[in-house]
Amino acid sequence: MKNTPPTISTPYQTHQFVASETSNISLSAPSSSLTTTPLHPPIRLAIFGSGKGSNFLAIYDAIQAGKLPATILIVVSDNPNARIIDLAKERNLPTLLVEEHRYKSRLSENVESELAQKLLNLNIELIALAGWMRIVKYPLLQAFPNRILNIHPSLLPQFPGLEAWRQALLAGAKITGCTVHLVNEGIDSGPILAQTQVPILPNDSPESLHARIQEAEHLLYPQTIASYCSFLRNNPS
Ligand code: GRF
Repeated sequence: MKNTPPTISTPYQTHQFVASETSNISLSAPSSSLTTTPLHPPIRLAIFGSGKGSNFLAIYDAIQAGKLPATILIVVSDNPNARIIDLAKERNLPTLLVEEHRYKSRLSENVESELAQKLLNLNIELIALAGWMRIVKYPLLQAFPNRILNIHPSLLPQFPGLEAWRQALLAGAKITGCTVHLVNEGIDSGPILAQTQVPILPNDSPESLHARIQEAEHLLYPQTIASYCSFLRNNPS
């Protein structure tokens, strides 16, 4: 991508803050301005998910409410039983099931290359990982540089990897949260775009904590995608 994203400067609401030290991406548009200044044309979005799809729903609802200037062109899953596929079909969105039998934690290079080409053919501009359980590798990273976002259930760089809420509880943390970041070749290690803190309560179980983190995710992810869409429209490559 030719444009270099500038530095994050403005948190958009009080319960959010931005860990800007590791990031060089700008998220300057307050979410409240997005309903009054829609962007044309909407960003062409693909959503990837392997599971229950609650973040997909939050993104979909934000688009429907006019708060996120994007169109979901395709919902991609690697899991035929994932609820996200049913949710997408119920909303008449195209879905794509990726068949991968060789690896569990990533796609084979040829499968990922084919997927990247399909997305390029659809003129996808941005990919939002929403519970996608495979590490993104070179074919997609090369096809969509700085154009793949992820939501992670911790305040990165703390607790990358699986079941981050459980990791936070086991570590005795008092505060955790969620992070939206750009995807790079590492595991949950790309530049951080935005974060929301979530307190850990004395009686929290892994399940209760994850549920509260997810409430925060459902606000943070659509808002951050919306701001990133503004950034992309204002900095065409
Ligand atoms: C979320 O907790 C997200 O942070 C993580 O995977 C989970 C996906 O949940 N990456 P859902 O499928 O969106 O409900």
